[in-house]
Amino acid sequence: MDSNLQIAYFLVISLILISVTLLPIHVYHRVLSGLLALPFIYIVFILSYSVYQFAAFGGNYQSKIHDLIVSKVNWDGKGKFLDIGTGSGSLIIKLAKAFPASSLTGIDYWGENWEYPKAQCEQNAELEGVHDRIVFLKASASALPFHDGEFDVVVSCLTFHEVKDKKNKTEVISEALRVLKPGGVFVFLDLFMDEKVFGDEKRSHKIHKETGNI
Ligand SMILES: C[S@@+](CC[C@H](N)C(=O)[O-])C[C@H]1O[C@@H](n2cnc3c(N)ncnc32)[C@H](O)[C@@H]1O
Repeated sequence: MDSNLQIAYFLVISLILISVTLLPIHVYHRVLSGLLALPFIYIVFILSYSVYQFAAFGGNYQSKIHDLIVSKVNWDGKGKFLDIGTGSGSLIIKLAKAFPASSLTGIDYWGENWEYPKAQCEQNAELEGVHDRIVFLKASASALPFHDGEFDVVVSCLTFHEVKDKKNKTEVISEALRVLKPGGVFVFLDLFMDEKVFGDEKRSHKIHKETGNI
């Protein structure tokens, strides 16, 4: 879910609980409501701080993470690139600038929970002067509309854990590998330490070894 939506959701709950403390009701209910508000206020604080750290006006972490991914793409620069879960297009635009001889495709589901639509990606690419080499497509990471081995480079940032139409998220990673050329480059970042999403970390290491592409 979009973090701004989450913040708004918890903020509304906090405000409702705080307003109850101001009502002319029994002091017990007012204190209880105040205590209940505390964890929600804490969540609002943590989420807002994370958004701030990721944003360009704060710690700029998102841009730094994208720079790190681009720096790990060890490729001669020619050929076809795919960004899975391209979001607002910021990573794929950095790739297009770093690899001027590449042609690139960004796919995303652009669900209603996210604030950036496909049109915004196209506009961002145009503003950065790379729109003639990037195609944006609406598709799910779980069923990529591409042939086996179609791409020289596949990247993905913080997307696999978001894919709702596959319970087993490692299958989404296998789908990414399906469209990668043998010997191609796959650079991705996700919440692999979260066992609820990706299961046992040892199993992820097994996939790592079996594919040899990661
Ligand atoms: C945390 S955002 C990351 C966006 C982008 N990769 C970045 O680093 O800025 C997760 C993205 O995953 C996308 N997403 C969620 N489910 C998806 C799916 N089934 N297929 C493709 N993208 C999906 C969302 O629309 C969102 O853009």
